[in-house]
Amino acid sequence: MTENPLIIALDVEDASQARDIVSRLGGSISIYKVGMELYAAAGMEFVRELIGAGKQVFLDMKFYDIGETVKRAVAQVARTGVRFLTIHGSRAVMRAAADGRGDSGLRLLAVTVLTSFDRADLAQMGYPCDVAELVSLRVNNAMAAGIDGLVCSPLEAARVRALAGPAAILVTPGVRSAGAGKGDQKRVATPAEAIRDGANYLVIGRQVTRAADPAAEVARILQEIRA
Ligand code: C5P
Repeated sequence: MTENPLIIALDVEDASQARDIVSRLGGSISIYKVGMELYAAAGMEFVRELIGAGKQVFLDMKFYDIGETVKRAVAQVARTGVRFLTIHGSRAVMRAAADGRGDSGLRLLAVTVLTSFDRADLAQMGYPCDVAELVSLRVNNAMAAGIDGLVCSPLEAARVRALAGPAAILVTPGVRSAGAGKGDQKRVATPAEAIRDGANYLVIGRQVTRAADPAAEVARILQEIRA
């Protein structure tokens, strides 16, 4: 297991709320996820601020566009010192992203199938298959394209690990301690279950960011995983 596998999602509406969470968590967290909401509000300026403060950034942009655009955008992200970037799990996007990353330290993570999609959603998009089949196809394509890892549901982690091999970086959102509020997440697993099934990192948002004492919540989750 990674020493501290927690990535905290800064799903807030402005930089000042994000700074407040980062300062309350202090040294207990070194990786933060900046997603679409905070990016739209505070952009790369806030990402650079986090990196300048010694934090690592997981930029959750789920890039999806024509190859040339993806390649050039990934190259820009690579220059900033962002550690992880998410991209869509389609083959052309993944190949272009691997090209744009070059030999930088940026790690690319492909999103297989959003955990909010079920078979009916796939059928509506014209994919006549199960979620599990599409996940497997995309994992294999990601590894062939030279992608570093995958974002997947904790309920798929064991299967994804078996397909992707020991070197792939697996990140699972949808993680909750037993008894914690699920919010809008439907398919959840506990932090310990996700690690047991092969996750290297866990993305946790509200369970920590909305806790009365976020640092104590992080300590409790780490304790739960170690036990
Ligand atoms: O608050 P919570 O722990 O549910 O936050 C989970 C984070 O992980 C959110 O930022 C959400 O966008 C992200 N995520 C997810 N499920 C996915 C991919 C990303 O919950 N399949």
